[in-house]
Order: sequence, then structure tokens, then C-alpha cells
Amino acid sequence: MSYQDLYQQSIEQPEVFWRKQAELIKWYEFPETILSQDEHGFFRWFAGGKLNTSYLALDAQIEDGRGNQLALIYDSPVTNSQHKFTYTELRDEVAVFAGGLKNLGVGKGDRVIIYMPMVAEAVISMLACARLGAVHSVVFGGFAPHELAVRINDAKPKVLVTASCGIEFTNVIEYKPLVDRALEIAEFAPEKTVVLQRPQAEAEMQSGRDYDWVKLVNQAEPVEPVPVEATDPLYILYTSGTTGLPKGVVRDNGGHAVALKYSMKAVYNTDPGDVYWAGSDVGWVVGHSYIVYAPLLHGCTTIVYEGKPVRTPDAGAFWRVISEHKVNTFFTAPTAFRAVKKEDPEANLKKLYNISSLRTLFLAGERLDPPTYEWLKEILKEDSGAGIPVVDHWWQTETGWAICSNPMGIEPHPVKNGSPTVAMPGYNVQVLDDEGNTCKPGETGNIVIHLPLPPSCLPTLWNDNDRFKQSYLSRYDGYYLTGDEGIKDEDNYIFVMGRTDDVINVAGHRLSTGEMEELIAGHPAVAECAVTGIDDELRGQVPVGFVVLKDGVEMSQEQMQKELVDIIRRDIGAVAYFRQSGIVKRLPKTRSGKILRKTIRKLAVETEVSVPPTIDDPIILDEIRDVMRERGIGQYAVS
Ligand code: COA
Ligand code: AMP
Repeated sequence: MSYQDLYQQSIEQPEVFWRKQAELIKWYEFPETILSQDEHGFFRWFAGGKLNTSYLALDAQIEDGRGNQLALIYDSPVTNSQHKFTYTELRDEVAVFAGGLKNLGVGKGDRVIIYMPMVAEAVISMLACARLGAVHSVVFGGFAPHELAVRINDAKPKVLVTASCGIEFTNVIEYKPLVDRALEIAEFAPEKTVVLQRPQAEAEMQSGRDYDWVKLVNQAEPVEPVPVEATDPLYILYTSGTTGLPKGVVRDNGGHAVALKYSMKAVYNTDPGDVYWAGSDVGWVVGHSYIVYAPLLHGCTTIVYEGKPVRTPDAGAFWRVISEHKVNTFFTAPTAFRAVKKEDPEANLKKLYNISSLRTLFLAGERLDPPTYEWLKEILKEDSGAGIPVVDHWWQTETGWAICSNPMGIEPHPVKNGSPTVAMPGYNVQVLDDEGNTCKPGETGNIVIHLPLPPSCLPTLWNDNDRFKQSYLSRYDGYYLTGDEGIKDEDNYIFVMGRTDDVINVAGHRLSTGEMEELIAGHPAVAECAVTGIDDELRGQVPVGFVVLKDGVEMSQEQMQKELVDIIRRDIGAVAYFRQSGIVKRLPKTRSGKILRKTIRKLAVETEVSVPPTIDDPIILDEIRDVMRERGIGQYAVS
């Protein structure tokens, strides 16, 4: 069937379309309804169905004859080690760790926070929760104790699973003191923690609360998968919104399993038995969907890579992994390849490896900027005969899989540089102006998705139906607001231009400038502040803060910057990459008092900035430009 026919059917007859996909996974009980609405009026997929995601990812694959096939390869250049698990071995590890969690009192519906580096045990923990019907919430290991505490308070976990340390290039980052600190400041404390002791750093254990992973497993019995409802939550993944309180995106079991399996062929053109590698982190949605669940649900081999694109040991790291493990499909963020390009612009290190196994390269997490696309196309043009296709695809934590992509497993489309191509089946993507009218082809507007969203997309936010409605459903009746703006062209290609809210993307990490402002506003000398993301060659965007001092306060620019950098590093983490700030006399505002953050961002990167008609006093822009010049911010950076 052509893409157009499939797409049309998915929009006009969603229940017919997704029933067919649902029939491809093994249910304990097939759903009573394909699409329905719950008591809050939210759309739900596959209500009445019973399944277990860990069973589908492991046991069902073994039943289908994949027991001896590799399920997971752990490749860790930072510890110089590797470990391979067949499906049977991974299932056994998961079943027994699930037994350990059960012994700690974890059961169906209980939450478990997982705060771990990129080790196989992170995946094992996630699948063990799924096996028990417990709800995991993975917190990215780069987040500081304050961020971990905020998530603990919201999820109220029974148990927290962690490791003694993570390794960033050659730095050993001790996790346990961060966890201890988070538990100290959290208002809710899980009763127990499980700690994976790694040889690079021994964690100090608190007797009665902290359990050693190995001892826990040695005393545990394997457990069988627990059937759950299709609409029961599989996980909560917190993502940055416009405030300091992250949004707990809920993923259900049924819709997730069906859509992710579907995506492996339709989007990625990947077949069971293939080696699929997503070079991301289990703390992000890409890691959840395409390091852990989708490859295993589809009978592929997945890779957990504890390393970086560069300096572990060099910019040939990606090519080494692809060649060594015969990767067929590779997926990473553009920023990772910008780092490679910076260190090895001619891609000389690629010549050292045979990457003939690679069929397609996928990129997401941020816009694939045209220069990076051109560079990748050029360096891959002689591989696999006609060159390896480079595919940009656009999605969000909220959806769990691609909203727009080149449908490689349905009907590959010609590429338009700068566009993630077309809507995937199930996503009725529209572009609306501020009044709710459909934009003409080529006109910029808010990108929205007509309801219902397809399976796997968030049914709601954890414990916050009102925020779900208010953040996503209230702007336009009957539509989900993506938070991105962009255009649809005459061929229905979508171009995503950027966020319309206070969310920025730093090296593929989604962060909230609103949260940074809340933290900076807590500084005793600060009267007012604005944080905005400015363009950065390597990281895509980096945050920069501008503050107005309280009357009578004297402080040097350097001292203020140091203190603000410390605050963001302490409370959010080094990943926020907040490095620059400026003290200004005033912030540009509209006459009604709204801070013009977009204008500040433009001042940092554009030479000609038109003065917004709503501004209260245009002279402020010159003052800010002077501070940017003095501080070397954005275009005024001294290289
Ligand atoms: N745990 C603890 N700290 C972390 C961390 C983690 N998981 N990830 C990053 N950090 C820290 C770094 O150590 C660094 O700390 P420092 O300021 O003390 O040196 C800081 O956060 C900034 O990190 P980063 O922006 O990643 O810069 P870098 O120089 O360490 O690495 C890249 C640059 C491009 C190699 C790296 O950002 C990268 O691999 N990006 C790809 C990210 C990605 O795949 N995202 C996909 C999401 S879909
Ligand atoms: P996250 O929830 O962390 O995956 O971040 C989602 C946001 O990242 C989206 O709303 C976009 O702003 C941005 N994003 C992700 N992928 C792309 C892409 N391919 N093109 C443009 N923006 C993207």
C-alpha cells in the first residue's frame, strides 16, 4: 500500500488501522475497544486489553525462537568493557531483578525511580518494573539532586534504583551522594534504594535503606510477567515545561507496545534480527523508546553505549561501534554529529572502519540543521552503493515515536533539506495561525495534531489532568498543541522551526528557561530576570541570563555570572550549560509588562533586529546590545 493510502486510512478509519497493528502483538486478552474515551473525556487506546510489556519484549521473542539471539550489547569505552546478553539471558536477569524488587515490596502500580548511567542494569531495571506492572520513572543521570527531588516528590516512588557512579569521558561522577542529597531535600522519601556498586567508586550504604544490587538479586527468585491493562501506565517520564515543575508524561502499556512495534518497520524499515542502535541516554525519551522498548518488541539487537561521540577515545567512536556490532540502523542527535564534525571534519576516522552493515542514519532531538545534513550526506555518499540515507525525524517526549519522518519502511520520499518530511500514519498534523485558521502552504504557524493522537502518545500527565488540558488541549479546541512552530508546504512536508514556549534544546537535552528564571529570581540581589536560548554551533542552543539588580545593590558582572552559573549547575545540573549572563539596567517589555525574550534572543544572534511595535522603550535594546558586546555573548563572542 502506498504511503498516501495508508496515511489516509489511519486518519479516516483509525480503529481499522490500529486494530490491524494490535493484532501483531501477543495479548493475554485482546482489547474490547480499539479507541474510546475515559471518564475525563481523554482518548484511550485498546481499553480492556491485557498484556505485559516485559513479556512482549523478552519472553514472547524467546517463544518465537530468538532465545539465543543477542538482545542487548553493552559497549562501554569509558570502562573499556563489553557485555552481551541473549534474549534468554536478558529475560533471566530481568525476571530475577524483578524478584528482588518484589522482595522490597514493589508491586503493580507502584512507582520506581531509576537514576542510572548507561549500563545494562538501567535497561534491566526498566524491564523488571514492566514485568511487575510497576511504573518506572527514569531520571537522566546528568540532573542535579534538586531535579531528582522534584521528580521523587511528584512520583512518590516506593523504591529508587541507582548506581555508585557514572563516567563522563574520564570523570567518575559519584551518584550516591547526589541521591542522598536528593532524599534529604525531597518531601517524600522512598523507603528503599537499590545500589549497583561499580568498581570505579564504592558507594557508602545506609543500613536498612540501601540494598546492594548483587545481594538483592542473589536472594531473589525469578518472577513471571504480571498481566496489566492496556491503559495502565508503563512509565512516567518527566520533561521540561514552562515552569520549575516538570511535566510527568504518562505512557500506557498497550498503545505504546503497538505503536512502537509499528514504528520499527514503518519509520525505520528495520526487521526482526537486525541490529538497531540509538546513541542516546535511557534518561530521555529516545532512550526509552529506541534503546529499550521498540528494538526488543521487534526482536532486534539493541546497544547500550556508555560513551560519547568524541574523546571516547576519538571522533571515530560511532564508526567503531557500527562496524564492530554490525549496526543496521543508527539513530542519534544532530549535536552528536556536530561534535564529530568539529573534531574530524574530513571524516578520516570513518575510513578505518567497515560500516557496510549500516542501511540508514536517523536523527532527532532537535532540528537537523542543513549544514550538518549536507556534511553527513557527503561523507556517507559512497557507502552502501547509492549512499546511506540520512533521515531527520521530529517527535517529542509526549508522543514517544515520530510525528513526522521519511516513511522508510512504507515509501521513502525525496528529501527536502530542513524538513523531517511528512506526518506518520496516525498523526493528523496541521498548522494553525493564532486565531485558529489553517495556515496556507508555506505560512508559519503553530503545529498542532488533530485529536485523537495515535497510540503511545500521552493520555494525560501524572496526577495532573488539569495541567494536561491546559498545556496541550486548551489552545485550540479538538487539537493537541505541540509547542513547536513551523510550516507545511504544498507537498505536505512539515518544516519545524522551533519552540513557541520557554523550552530550549541544549545538546539534544530539553530544558526549561522558565525554570532557570525561577531559580535565578531566587538570588537575593536579583530584581528581575530573563533567560533565553541563543544559537550555539555545537549544542544547537545554550541558555543566557539577563538580570536587573535590586535598587542599591552593587555587584560586578563577573561575580554575578559566577553565582548564577553555580545556582543552575547546583540545581539543574552541568548539562544545562548555563555559562553566561549579563547585568542590565532594564529588560525590554511590552507596554503591558511582558518581557520580550524573543527580541533578546535576536539581539544576541542577528545584526539587524527590528524594533517590536509593542515595546515600551526601544532604547533598552541598545543598552542590552552593549552588555552583550561587553560580555562577549552570542555574535559578540571572542573566539
Ligand atoms: N551525567 C553527569 N553529567 C553529565 C551527563 C551525565 N549523563 N551528561 C553531561 N554531563 C555534564 C558533562 O560532564 C559536562 O560537565 P562539565 O561542565 O563539568 O564539563 C556538562 O554536563 C555539559 O555536558 P555536554 O553539554 O554534554 O558537553 P560535553 O563537552 O561533555 O559533550 C557532546 C559534548 C556534544 C559530546 C555531548 O553533549 C553529546 O554527546 N551530545 C549528544 C547528546 C545526545 O545524544 N542527546 C540525545 C538526546 S535524544
Ligand atoms: P524531547 O521531548 O526532549 O524529545 O524534545 C522535543 C522537542 O525537541 C520538540 O518539541 C522539538 O522542539 C525538538 N525536536 C525534536 N526533534 C526535532 C526535529 N527533528 N526537528 C526539529 N525539532 C525537533
